[in-house]
Amino acid sequence: MNRILLSAATCAAALLSTGAMAAPPEPKPLSAQTRANLEAAMHGEAYANLKYLRYADQAEAAGKPELARLFRESANIEANEHFDREAQALQLGGANSANLEDAMAGEHYENVTMYIDFARQAEADGDTKVAAMFRQIAVDEGMHYEAYKAALAKLSPR
Ligand SMILES: [Fe+2]
Ligand SMILES: [Fe+2]
Repeated sequence: MNRILLSAATCAAALLSTGAMAAPPEPKPLSAQTRANLEAAMHGEAYANLKYLRYADQAEAAGKPELARLFRESANIEANEHFDREAQALQLGGANSANLEDAMAGEHYENVTMYIDFARQAEADGDTKVAAMFRQIAVDEGMHYEAYKAALAKLSPR
């Protein structure tokens, strides 16, 4: 082997060993705890968003437009900055079929388990109006589940 060929081979080997010719490394996957914390934070941000919008309406109704604006501005940050950044960090969502399956799982749980349990507990405590509301909402969640299921069937008939 002549000297030029040998030095080219040495150079290629050196590049490979430093990773210079390899694809960029995959980012380290998030820990289970970080993922759980992101989920918890997103629940808080989403709740704060809707709560502050409600507070803003109440401030508006009470003749306090400045306060209403403060609540709306905060609500906007909670949703469109904090939730959004956390959702990106979590890589929330993806293919339509996976998104529909995830949505169906949530709606189904609310439809057949969560709201039914909440209604039973409210009934046991004598909170009959809230119990009735939980049962009505459970029905809505069942309709959401069915609508998503139909959308999934249209997306990928099986
Ligand atoms: Fe926030
Ligand atoms: Fe729903």
